[in-house]
Amino acid sequence: MNRHDKIVPEWEAVGTLGDFEADVPERCEIGDLAVMVVRTSNGEVHALYDVCSHAEVALSEGEIVDGEIECWLHGSTFSLKTGKPSCLPAVDPVPVYPTKIEGDVVYVATNVEL
Ligand code: FES
Repeated sequence: MNRHDKIVPEWEAVGTLGDFEADVPERCEIGDLAVMVVRTSNGEVHALYDVCSHAEVALSEGEIVDGEIECWLHGSTFSLKTGKPSCLPAVDPVPVYPTKIEGDVVYVATNVEL
């Protein structure tokens, strides 16, 4: 593959919309990868690598605050869209994966990062 080839997303179904309570992050295992999936109250679905970039705890055990996931251990918050932290102590972003909804099924592709 050369650098001009596009990576085709490999979509994995992770549940239906009804499986995701609004603004409650859930941990989904996709292959060997832990992914935090959340349906926000405005109807968007986001998927991030479910490990904080600061000290390797599960982000899915945190809370959604103003459109970001707040790490429960030291309080860094990460954008659901970019994975970038907006406050210390975390300084590195976490990977964000594309999502799609077909019917009421939620899909995540972990072979692509946004
Ligand atoms: S472990 Fe997440 S901010 Fe420290």
